[in-house]
Amino acid sequence: MCGIVAYIGTKQAQNLLVEGLKRLEYRGYDSAGIAILDASVSGSRSPHINITRAVGRVSALEDRLEQIGGLRGTLGLAHTRWATHGGVCEANAHPHKDDKSGIYLVHNGIIENYSALKIYLEEKGHKFTSETDTEVLSMLIGELYEGDLEAAVQGALREVTGAYAIAVICDKEPDTLVVARKGSPLIVGVGDKEFVVASDASAIVAHTTQAVTLDDYNVVKITRDGFRTSDIHNATVSHKVTQLELDLDAIELGDYSHYMLKEINEQPRSLRNCFRGRIDQREGKIVLGGLTTYAKELVKARRIILTGQGTALHAAMIGEYIIEDLAKVPAVAEYASEFRYRNPIIEDGTIVVAVSQSGETADTLAALYEARDRGALSLGVVNVVGSTISRDTDAGVYLRVGPEIGVASTKAFTGQVAVLTMIALFMARRRFMSADQCADLLKVLDTIPEKIERILEQDDVVRKVTQKYVERDNWLFLGRGYNYPTALEGALKLKEISYIHAEGMPAAEMKHGPIALINEGMPAVFIANRGRQYDKVMSNIAEVRARGGHVIAVATEGDEQIKNHCQDVLYVPEVPECLSPMLTVIPLQLMAYHAAVMRGHDVDKPRNLAKSVTVE
Ligand code: G6P
Repeated sequence: MCGIVAYIGTKQAQNLLVEGLKRLEYRGYDSAGIAILDASVSGSRSPHINITRAVGRVSALEDRLEQIGGLRGTLGLAHTRWATHGGVCEANAHPHKDDKSGIYLVHNGIIENYSALKIYLEEKGHKFTSETDTEVLSMLIGELYEGDLEAAVQGALREVTGAYAIAVICDKEPDTLVVARKGSPLIVGVGDKEFVVASDASAIVAHTTQAVTLDDYNVVKITRDGFRTSDIHNATVSHKVTQLELDLDAIELGDYSHYMLKEINEQPRSLRNCFRGRIDQREGKIVLGGLTTYAKELVKARRIILTGQGTALHAAMIGEYIIEDLAKVPAVAEYASEFRYRNPIIEDGTIVVAVSQSGETADTLAALYEARDRGALSLGVVNVVGSTISRDTDAGVYLRVGPEIGVASTKAFTGQVAVLTMIALFMARRRFMSADQCADLLKVLDTIPEKIERILEQDDVVRKVTQKYVERDNWLFLGRGYNYPTALEGALKLKEISYIHAEGMPAAEMKHGPIALINEGMPAVFIANRGRQYDKVMSNIAEVRARGGHVIAVATEGDEQIKNHCQDVLYVPEVPECLSPMLTVIPLQLMAYHAAVMRGHDVDKPRNLAKSVTVE
């Protein structure tokens, strides 16, 4: 949600910043902008900052830069926006500035007290040109500027409430870049006499792999010779330079037409990585290094609360089923945004598990802090190494599925389900499950990647089925038990990228209202693999058919009988029910992908969405 990249060094900044923005574009793509300090001095001309902004994608900004012949300079900042305050227009695009002081700023987050600050600044004579909270912050820094940019930024940040990651430059300080964070991620890449600052590592690794991940309230003053980290009260803060573990190849598109397709196809490999070293077949147990310190607490847990948003919440819901089923511990999955505001009761022995691809989702973080402050042990199930959730939890397990760039989450979902399955088995084996019982499940778990390979081979069948229904504007996704959350995920995938209205629900719930929607030819996708509730799902299929709906069933290989009950069947290999969501979701991901392509949509950058939502 909004991407920031900034540079100070010896190279021309423009191309580097634009390349960085392209890497960060998944964070928001309403508009983009860049400001570069031109330090050349001639005649009456002193160092000055040039700015260019454009509505739309980063490519629109590139076109604009080409038209004006480019911006020169070795210090600059850039931004790709996902609108929060104010509509999508050039005036609201970042960078924002304060003309009087010559300060330029890019911002990710929300300044919550911006209205009060705006009134104060207007009284001081500031004239606003945008509707954004960010412009208020740039003017506040300008108001406090007395020849020391670092001090002005610290002063302003003492006055604001809300979340921010910012980068600031000033035409009077051509050798200074100041950056700061609270609540929104920011990383300072440390090179040789050059520094690249960005919202995430993907915009940095092409230049350096040495980096400092900022903590809340860190303010960093960077010059070409080095940097100093302080807090907003100017107390020096120690920082740690670490190695960024991100392979550049992993964030390239390669031969694929879209990141989403690449990531769907990567799932066999990403899950092998996720399982590597964690499945101990011989001992019939799961090894999770990140949890061993808290094994006792997990064994004695009295309640597990799993929380997240979007796709991560769907994975959490599967976690709820599997933890109760295998580990026999009461578990509940809840939207982080709801959990945090309902005054939750946290009793002794409660463990909260924050599930998140990015590890930065504002709602999930807020829920985590709420539970932690009330005494819960906190665990993270996170993909991005070093992200805020991974740092602010007591312990956790990384997904290890590699960077996910497509806005619609795919391989992170199967990774989250895989990790939650392993956590359930980790607990179950220490509680009631025998080594033999566990070993039986582990044997199958280990084969999930090759089974996904088999499903992916049927891509052509999925595409043809999708083609039959792609013109329909309303779809239902139905499942029971473990595959009720899969149905929700299938519906979410379809609506996110193809803009088709889709609803997911428990198959039995359909007859309590949604059945009224069914008309001739309406597609209803049933997750109807063999399991405890197979017969019941078949009855629900009959109810839809009786009303003219067209049924697409995701069924177990070898179930020939089901063909007599529905229009189309997509097969997945047979596995124990508790492991099936990692397979049944694959055709649904492919279906959503094909529908979006057929409808001509930008699969990787669906309208109005952002991959990482760092505001509440
Ligand atoms: C956004 C994304 C979703 C994602 C959700 C949670 O809404 O568009 O794809 O599932 O955030 O993100 P997280 O990074 O916490 O998994």
